[in-house]
Amino acid sequence: MDTLTNSIEADASVQKHDALLRIDGYSAGYDESLILKNVDLQVGRKEVVALLGRNGVGKTTLLNSILGLVSGGGGSIEFDGIRLDALSTDQRARLGIGYVPQGRDIFPNLTVQENLDVSLRVAKADKAEANSRKSEVFDLFPVLSEMLKRKGGVLSGGQQQQLAIGRALLLKPKLLILDEPTEGIQPSIIDQIEDAIYAIKKRGEMSVILVEQYIDFARNACDSFYILERGSVVESGSIEGLNDGLVARYLTV
Ligand SMILES: Nc1ncnc2c1ncn2[C@@H]1O[C@H](COP(=O)(O)OP(=O)(O)OP(=O)(O)O)[C@@H](O)[C@H]1O
Ligand SMILES: [Mg+2]
Repeated sequence: MDTLTNSIEADASVQKHDALLRIDGYSAGYDESLILKNVDLQVGRKEVVALLGRNGVGKTTLLNSILGLVSGGGGSIEFDGIRLDALSTDQRARLGIGYVPQGRDIFPNLTVQENLDVSLRVAKADKAEANSRKSEVFDLFPVLSEMLKRKGGVLSGGQQQQLAIGRALLLKPKLLILDEPTEGIQPSIIDQIEDAIYAIKKRGEMSVILVEQYIDFARNACDSFYILERGSVVESGSIEGLNDGLVARYLTV
């Protein structure tokens, strides 16, 4: 083998090793209908990836597939070098995948404090570690520290979203998955959620997959992008390549 081939193969193996999440030729759907078709997607360590596409193209289905909430019909998903196919949702979460689903995923009848404590108990954090993790979350979302005794269900939509993201962060996942965190939320809170994602990126502690309709935000917050159309990846690359032509073709309604 010549040196060039050697070095290309070496590069490929480094890349493969570096990816935190690798989805290869993945297909999945519900009952009879095939939604995802032959999807390839990679998330590097510390990388923030935008997953984009119009309503109904399969973004949430792909995220649910990563968590094992949809059964796959082909291909593979690997996280941190481990094949996920045979693992339960719980086992996948324990490997370090944090998921904030679309909508508001909190316990409405528990207080803010109790909602956060559920995560800390799952994280098995001792008192010092729990306090340090909580103060990091309160730095990002100060409103939570002011509402500790309030029931989750009476918070505004934006506050509930902040609580949902805060709960996921307390687990210090290796990969944080956010499905439209700014959907249906008033602008002032959108700004806070966006700032929190910039801060998470700056800390460089975790990789992120962000489903987001606000293109400018995706452009500012993300390193790379994937566009889905009818269940297939039609475009992907580094975020600088997300030009107005692609936005007009695949993302504007
Ligand atoms: N539980 C389900 N059972 C059957 N079909 C489903 C189910 N969930 C979603 N679908 C279908 O799968 C397709 C993809 O839906 P999905 O929710 O993944 O899209 P999305 O890109 O997340 O859309 P949105 O931007 O509106 O959130 C849609 O046609 C939808 O109707
Ligand atoms: Mg969705």
